[in-house]
Amino acid sequence: ETVEWEADAAEKGGYEHFMRKEIHEQPASLRQTLSGRIDLDRGAVELDLEFPKGYLSSVEEIQFVACGTSYYASLYAARLFEEIADIRATVSIASEYTFDGGRDPWRTLTIAVTQSGETADTLGAIRRAKRAGAQTLAVTNMLGSSVSREVKNSVFIRAGPEIGVAATKTFASQVTTLALLAVYLGRERGVLSPSDARSILEDLRGLPGGVQQVLDNEASVKEAAVAYQDSDAFFFVGRRHGYPVALEGALKLKEISYDHAEGFAAGELKHGPLALVTDNTPVLAVLTDGGNIPNTVNNLVEAQTRGAPAIGAISESHEIDSLDVGFEVPDAGLFEPLIANVYFQLFAYHVANEKGRPIDKPRNLAKSVTVG
Ligand code: G6P
Repeated sequence: ETVEWEADAAEKGGYEHFMRKEIHEQPASLRQTLSGRIDLDRGAVELDLEFPKGYLSSVEEIQFVACGTSYYASLYAARLFEEIADIRATVSIASEYTFDGGRDPWRTLTIAVTQSGETADTLGAIRRAKRAGAQTLAVTNMLGSSVSREVKNSVFIRAGPEIGVAATKTFASQVTTLALLAVYLGRERGVLSPSDARSILEDLRGLPGGVQQVLDNEASVKEAAVAYQDSDAFFFVGRRHGYPVALEGALKLKEISYDHAEGFAAGELKHGPLALVTDNTPVLAVLTDGGNIPNTVNNLVEAQTRGAPAIGAISESHEIDSLDVGFEVPDAGLFEPLIANVYFQLFAYHVANEKGRPIDKPRNLAKSVTVG
């Protein structure tokens, strides 16, 4: 038995759970994702893509199809594509995707985002897009996976193996890979200048260091998790790129702690969810630049007025005195919510750990779901 335990501990690199190991691997996995793909001098991204000549500059719509955490990564990416590559981007939950070709399928690029490359719903959606005549692309962690065999072009997120059922480092690498793709597309389409590209790429290069700063604050996240673990429910809110991170933060917490957690667009709190807010429902907010901090703070204050504890992940350039707990997010432009997400990962982990949950294998869930 001792031998087995030692083998297990060695596999986890000294961590008690794969999930915590994988959260801590993010600076390294992000470096791996970016490695060799950024040419700062030219303000360019290098990816091995083979589309018909001139195709990418003629694309009119990007469609993302994905499930679970990959769906939230796609929501983040759609905002990036619109801003960086000036292109219409829609996101479908793969099981809800109904594309039949529309007016001009040739000018549609459908991107399947899937960590495992084996999710049945996502495979079904990408096949449907192909049948309708769209061009297709896969963004996945798995070489040789079913999705990468289904499409001509794949971009690998290079996060390395993820064992914990709850996706952590792969979310960070998905968003980062999709940001690279947005820059690539923006340059191909001639809508992004080399100097604007350079500043986005510099922010991406700063991500491993930014994430490390969050990891160095783990003790304060654990303290908050211990203080609030017995709450009735947890609400996560954010705007713009912070909104998908609010959804992802809530998903992590419900998956591994079994507590009730929901993510909302901060502006929607007053349109219904506020009825659920009490002094026993902490609200966790993404308060990062680009996410309209003053408005999000107003929404948070409305919850605080009803007694809810307010926990915020805030850009380091801002100070908000009214928060019950504040976590500092280093400067990272469009990617600050991605860094804030690491606080939410740690929060979910520590709440679940305090409760003794089987963190790496939550009940009823599977790492990859190959049935539709
Ligand atoms: C399962 C996993 C989730 C994952 C989702 C999509 O539900 O438990 O963590 O986000 O599938 O998986 P994929 O491999 O397609 O990204």
